[in-house]
Amino acid sequence: MDVHVIRRDNKHLYSEILEDYFRLRHQIYVVERKWAALDRPDKRELDQFDTDETVYLLGLEGRSIIAGMRLVPTTAPTLLSDLFPRLSLNGPIRRPDVYELSRIFVVPKRRGEHAGPRAEAVIQAAAMEYGLSIGLSAFTIVLESWWLPRLLDQGWVARPLGLPIDIDSMSTIAVMVDVDEQAWTEICIRRSVPGPMLVWQGLPVIERPAIRDLVPAA
Ligand code: COA
Repeated sequence: MDVHVIRRDNKHLYSEILEDYFRLRHQIYVVERKWAALDRPDKRELDQFDTDETVYLLGLEGRSIIAGMRLVPTTAPTLLSDLFPRLSLNGPIRRPDVYELSRIFVVPKRRGEHAGPRAEAVIQAAAMEYGLSIGLSAFTIVLESWWLPRLLDQGWVARPLGLPIDIDSMSTIAVMVDVDEQAWTEICIRRSVPGPMLVWQGLPVIERPAIRDLVPAA
């Protein structure tokens, strides 16, 4: 699986894949997770945070989507600023060096894999690689609390921005995760991710990952 960076400047190369992606999000979040508020008549799941500013990291095998993640700059509206501000005690984070991660998924047939690096770990390592590549210092994430120990266990430093709150009967918390070389190296070592995963098709050479010289030590 390669993880493709898809954003405003190269999304024309991925129009069919993006169409599949929004339909897959409907299947995962509306049908499977039953987040009914996201339902739309066209059976595509996209919302006010899917804009020209949004960056998608899609794990692809050929043209099949295996995993996905969405990144939104916190200088634009985010889940935390506009939908769940109660989760951040000191108000929303709005910084050019911080992006919000959301809509992290793996297709059902590829979840819980044990042979080789899990798709779930690869997509998260790829997010860290992307953050390092464009010079971010942190990610914010609004997450169901069950996910927090998993983030810590993959070697990420995650600080709660507030107390957990019940949202739709699910304990939910907002965290800020450091983006640094240590976090990328740790997830690669602990989850057997072999190294840089991102494909920068159609994107300017100047933004190719600075991470290429960083190889996770065994
Ligand atoms: N509530 C509580 N625990 C959950 C959960 C949920 N909705 N979804 C997954 N988990 C737990 C599983 O119970 C499992 O725990 P275990 O290893 O102790 O059995 C663990 O997380 C791993 O989940 P699994 O789905 O087997 O494999 P994965 O690590 O490959 O993928 C996800 C994890 C979350 C990426 C995948 O389950 C998924 O895509 N889910 C749908 C999308 C989603 O809910 N994303 C999170 C919100 S954006």
